[in-house]
Amino acid sequence: MIELTIDGTKVRAAPGTTVLEAAREMGIVIPTLCYYPGLSSYGECRVCLVEMVKGRGRSSLEASCALPVEQGQVILTSSAKVKKARRVVVELLLASCPSSKTLQCMASNMGINQVRFKIKPRECILCGRCVRYCKEQMRSGGIGFTGRGTARRVTTAFGHTPEECRNCGGCQWICPVCERACTADSLVNGLCGGCQNLAHVETCEICTGCSESVGAHGHTVY
Ligand code: SF4
Ligand code: SF4
Ligand code: FES
Repeated sequence: MIELTIDGTKVRAAPGTTVLEAAREMGIVIPTLCYYPGLSSYGECRVCLVEMVKGRGRSSLEASCALPVEQGQVILTSSAKVKKARRVVVELLLASCPSSKTLQCMASNMGINQVRFKIKPRECILCGRCVRYCKEQMRSGGIGFTGRGTARRVTTAFGHTPEECRNCGGCQWICPVCERACTADSLVNGLCGGCQNLAHVETCEICTGCSESVGAHGHTVY
């Protein structure tokens, strides 16, 4: 077993475990987007950033879903540096996909009340969940990435539904952008106020980042 320290608590984890998995085992909430249980780690969206302390005042920000546990590792999951970096990441993602309810809820939970980047809707955050689901779960190659840089997108070969596609609908179901669209009539600076999203929302203690909507009355989450 590998021994590491997460948020000041010593924890033991099996080799091959990621820091995200080890932290969630402890009940620590780390938001995720491109990570999905059962699919390979992609490490693309960066909302799961944690701070890896290296000593002598040095540290680095790492994607916890793609970071394997190591002996003696010291990890901080909610330091000021982590919170700031995650907020910037979510703001950037919202600027490209303001209609994603998942992203709007995540922004609300982080207390984000403005998006400082230019809004350029493209309705895909390139998280690759759909591509990995299609390949790894459906054993199909119906969709894939094409292009580079700003031209990068998910598509089918030649824009047609390929023969390999099993019409399972999984690629849509698993997409954090298509899954649930924000239905607010208008977004203010990329943020949704339609469901009082600008108010801080408390998170259940057992939250695993499901992004389901909950309400809060006083200090009670229902
Ligand atoms: S609907 Fe087709 S492209 Fe989408 S996950 Fe299923 S097999 Fe792949
Ligand atoms: S279509 Fe959806 S699941 Fe696929 S890469 Fe884009 S945001 Fe991710
Ligand atoms: S969830 Fe870790 S990088 Fe996307």
